[in-house]
Amino acid sequence: MLLPYPTSVVMVALFTMTMMMMLCGGDLHKNIDITWGNGRAQMLNNGQLLTVSLDAASGSGFQSKDHYLFGHFQIQLKLVPGNSAGTVTSFYLQSEGSTWDEIDFEFLGNLSGNPYILHTNVITQGKGGREQQFYLWFDPTSDFHTYSILWNPLCIILYVDGIPIREFKNYESRNISFPMKKPMRMYGSLWDAEDWATRGGLIKTNWSAAPFIAYFKNFFVNACVESTPPSITSSCTHPNKKSNNHNSVGEKWITQGLKPSEVDKLNWVHKNFMVYNYCSDLKRFPQGLPLECKIN
Ligand SMILES: *[C@@H]1O[C@H](CO)[C@@H](O)[C@H](O)[C@H]1NC(C)=O
Ligand SMILES: *[C@@H]1O[C@H](CO)[C@@H](O)[C@H](O)[C@H]1NC(C)=O
Ligand SMILES: *[C@@H]1O[C@H](CO)[C@@H](O)[C@H](O)[C@H]1NC(C)=O
Repeated sequence: MLLPYPTSVVMVALFTMTMMMMLCGGDLHKNIDITWGNGRAQMLNNGQLLTVSLDAASGSGFQSKDHYLFGHFQIQLKLVPGNSAGTVTSFYLQSEGSTWDEIDFEFLGNLSGNPYILHTNVITQGKGGREQQFYLWFDPTSDFHTYSILWNPLCIILYVDGIPIREFKNYESRNISFPMKKPMRMYGSLWDAEDWATRGGLIKTNWSAAPFIAYFKNFFVNACVESTPPSITSSCTHPNKKSNNHNSVGEKWITQGLKPSEVDKLNWVHKNFMVYNYCSDLKRFPQGLPLECKIN
């Protein structure tokens, strides 16, 4: 087996997991809590659909009940249509504490007819600054599209409709931190980022068009659940025992890296749709680019 990282690391990771879980599109009430927004987020259609909304007073959001240590997290999302400038719809994983890990999808709204930007970041031990931004090759407001995060001991890959848009490999062996130990929750929200998301507040949110609404559905999580308190006695050695094939990564997510057939797709996205890449921002890093940029 050709793994870009020693198998022993995968084994260690497997032993620290507690159990595998599958969250299907089914009833979101079982796996998701609406955590803020005072009624602005709602689960509808017997937990098949989750709406988040934003008005001048507040946004809203939700989180998974469980913490996960590695997994493949897939959702479908339909974004705020029309003039969505200043709104940010997010889907992300995050651990707790001051040296947290985080993997972000954030969709920055825009004026009617202008493109959304998909903003991504990877934060490890509280340190981020790894932004990559993309335009999408479709209108994300006219229909649901699939967004997913693969996180395993080897790599993090972000996918849009099954097409990889970003890869962050585990280079811990080269002293670049990677999320290995801290379980993360899955979060989603719609919030007001007028001052940040419109190129530094260039465009104001049109609050008279509120409430703004985004729709989430079909959550597929193929992951290892971390129990509280964390336990190392049980294992997750068969993480895919009960898995189904509704996700693009399939059965082997725990050891899956970017497949050779996916490399061209990733390059296609980077060549045609990338708006910003921290790894090309020499002005921002006069002392030299971050280490992982030099390896890739
Ligand atoms: C909004 O649209 C403008 C004009 O097409 C574009 O330059 C910008 O990147 C888009 N996104 C954001 C978040 O401003
Ligand atoms: C590894 O990285 C840490 C934090 O960036 C740094 O303090 C340390 O000196 C590095 N170690 C080596 C061997 O480069
Ligand atoms: C703001 O939204 C309202 C309601 O949709 C609309 O009538 C108005 O034209 C919008 N204003 C601007 C400046 O786009």
